[in-house]
Amino acid sequence: MLLKSKNDLEDSHLNSVIPQNARVLSGMRPTGQLHLGHYHGVLKNWVKLQHQYDCFFFVADWHALTTHYETPAIISQSLWDMVIDWLAAGVNPGTAKLFIQSRVPEHAELHLLLSMMTPIGWLERVPTYKDQQEKLKGMDLATYGFLGYPLLQSADILIYRALGVPVGDDQVAHVELTREVARRFNHLYGREPDFEDKAEAAIKKMGKKSGKVYRDVRKRYQEQGDAEALEVGKALLEEQQNLTIGDRERLFGYLEGSGRIILPEPQAMLTPASKMMGLDGQKMSKSYGNTIALREEPEQVTQKLRTMPTDPARVRRTDPGTPEKCPVWQLHQVYSNEEVRDWVRQGCTSAGIGCLDCKQPVIDAVLQELEPIRARAEQYLSNPSLVRGIVDEGCDAARTVARETLQEVRAAMGLNYK
Ligand code: TRP
Ligand code: SF4
Repeated sequence: MLLKSKNDLEDSHLNSVIPQNARVLSGMRPTGQLHLGHYHGVLKNWVKLQHQYDCFFFVADWHALTTHYETPAIISQSLWDMVIDWLAAGVNPGTAKLFIQSRVPEHAELHLLLSMMTPIGWLERVPTYKDQQEKLKGMDLATYGFLGYPLLQSADILIYRALGVPVGDDQVAHVELTREVARRFNHLYGREPDFEDKAEAAIKKMGKKSGKVYRDVRKRYQEQGDAEALEVGKALLEEQQNLTIGDRERLFGYLEGSGRIILPEPQAMLTPASKMMGLDGQKMSKSYGNTIALREEPEQVTQKLRTMPTDPARVRRTDPGTPEKCPVWQLHQVYSNEEVRDWVRQGCTSAGIGCLDCKQPVIDAVLQELEPIRARAEQYLSNPSLVRGIVDEGCDAARTVARETLQEVRAAMGLNYK
């Protein structure tokens, strides 16, 4: 069975299918409190994906260090709160693995090995490199670690051989780099002298019927460039129960006409565009000071919403307003149904309702949304060892996978000296 997210259709390299139950990985830097923007933009999506894929979610503490190396305390301060926010938002530790990057040092070894074969130009050309340096002018980001940021991210992804990486569009370039690095790695180290013989032997292990389908789609892809045949072939390999990892890698490569695929190329799974605007009508972001935190006290939430700006043209209650010019209207897009929105449009443009009347349904909806999140957070806040235990387990699970990949990477590079 194959799933396809409609967001994948936007870009040609994003439009191939990710098999159900495939491994999916994403990370977040612990640099402050999570807010409603994270909830609508990222966490709700994680919660959804955990039912469809084998999800690994991690705290990217090393990535946070690339920009916060002078203030590392922020990392340890936000780290556990962030994990609690994930859990409170509904990420289920029974389904998804939650872990901390620095607790899986295999990421660092793979990063190092990949750094040997990654041209510096590839890193300098990643758009976020110059953009962030421009944006964070007060910080010296002319560091080795910052240049390597996207390559560390590649190692994060490739060490789990994740096929899907849920990210916002600002991260697509990093996934793209990851694909190029994986391709280069497989090209350099996926060649074995007896590759064809081994691939042919592996086909036999699939059984007569599957073997025939495999040969068929391989031919169709290689002779006619039939992309659909390629997808069928990949799905077929995903389903095979009695292939070793090595044989599967060979057959993926044999299918595409390359060598053994040791590190598969991941795909970005674009997070559905979040409509979450902040209290001032700009995108909700900590740096604009326009956020509502996930675990903010109800009184404070109410207070923030009651005092948030409205259409500046509505000075007096009797002045009619224009919803399109009002940040409250943006929140109605997220929280209100058609009926309420009609009531707002009508009441605002005719000065029939006041701004506080208009805000009330939003206040109610936000409080209602946050209530179960606060309640779920409670059990973790009152029992920190519960959270530590969840993360310990996640780290163990992550390390098991990471070690296995690294073993193969070392072998492919000829580093497993005896
Ligand atoms: N760079 C990502 C961000 O800023 C965080 C991140 C680090 C990440 N490693 C990752 C995301 C691996 C996805 C996969 O949001
Ligand atoms: Fe904004 Fe509502 Fe006031 Fe109109 S009535 S200006 S939409 S808060």
